[in-house]
Amino acid sequence: MIRKGILLAGGSGTRLHPITQATSKQLLPVYDKPMVYYPLSTLLQAGIRDVLVISTPQDLPQFQRLFHDGAHLGVRISYAEQPSPDGIAQAFLIGEEWIAGEGCALVLGDNLIHGDHLSSMLCAASARADGATVFAYQVRDPERYGVVSFDEAGNATGIVEKPTRPESPWAVTGLYFYDHRVTSFARRLRPSARGELEITDLNQIYLREGVLKVERLGRGTAWLDAGTPDSLLQAATFVQTIQSRQGNLVGSPEEVAFRMGFIDAAALRARAAMIGKTELGRILHEIGEGHHA
Ligand code: DAU
Repeated sequence: MIRKGILLAGGSGTRLHPITQATSKQLLPVYDKPMVYYPLSTLLQAGIRDVLVISTPQDLPQFQRLFHDGAHLGVRISYAEQPSPDGIAQAFLIGEEWIAGEGCALVLGDNLIHGDHLSSMLCAASARADGATVFAYQVRDPERYGVVSFDEAGNATGIVEKPTRPESPWAVTGLYFYDHRVTSFARRLRPSARGELEITDLNQIYLREGVLKVERLGRGTAWLDAGTPDSLLQAATFVQTIQSRQGNLVGSPEEVAFRMGFIDAAALRARAAMIGKTELGRILHEIGEGHHA
């Protein structure tokens, strides 16, 4: 059972300059919430109640102002600095003491995953005792991502980071579940040609061990990353469309915490009152009153 999760929200956000010259990318709005709400909701949906937020020394205090110790969500949130963006897999070295030899999930602070039955799929991934689980999503521009190839039986055969000639359209999303070996495997990694500890190299270790499970996310799921002006706008439009059409929230850690049983209705209503007279506050209040299924 994986009980811990790292939310990685550092990096330099160069693809969003000048927007991110003075602020953290992961705090930018995606419609009505800060970007980081979406990946935090994903971790909570996996049943994870112990979260380590990693960001740059400059930005970390802002995340602390946003989430405090997590008590309002019925979870424990801790914080750690990444002095320079030396790679996604470095998160497991920074978090080594906090992980304390257990399994650990990781979500990238700019990834938004939304879909039917997502919570049960994520809980199944966190319930796996051995190996690693990653998620693949079919995209039109796989060369921007880690790309996984499959054999005819549907087993993963390889993962390549940003290949110039992708062997498949299946991109690896920024959500990963690893067993207790994660820190010892992360210690084996060496910086890549671009000078980073690559998450793809970590996944390759699990693949070579024969214990990497790649779950394909189907059409009922949306995966967006919000790292460029276009994808940021697309993500915001997506959230606005779903919320205004269905009245269902996307990426609200408060709602997820309530539905997962981490907080009760009174705590949700108190939180809604703090958020105030926004549409988000109103919907959360209604959920706390039992008005939404
Ligand atoms: O979004 C999924 C993709 O994320 C995967 O398909 C790729 O395999 C994986 O390498 C990664 O690719 P990106 O090119 O999107 O990685 P990027 O360098 O943009 O980092 C992703 C997020 O992680 C970004 O929000 C910043 C944060 N980050 C990144 C690095 C390298 C950190 O906080 N620290 C870091 O050292």
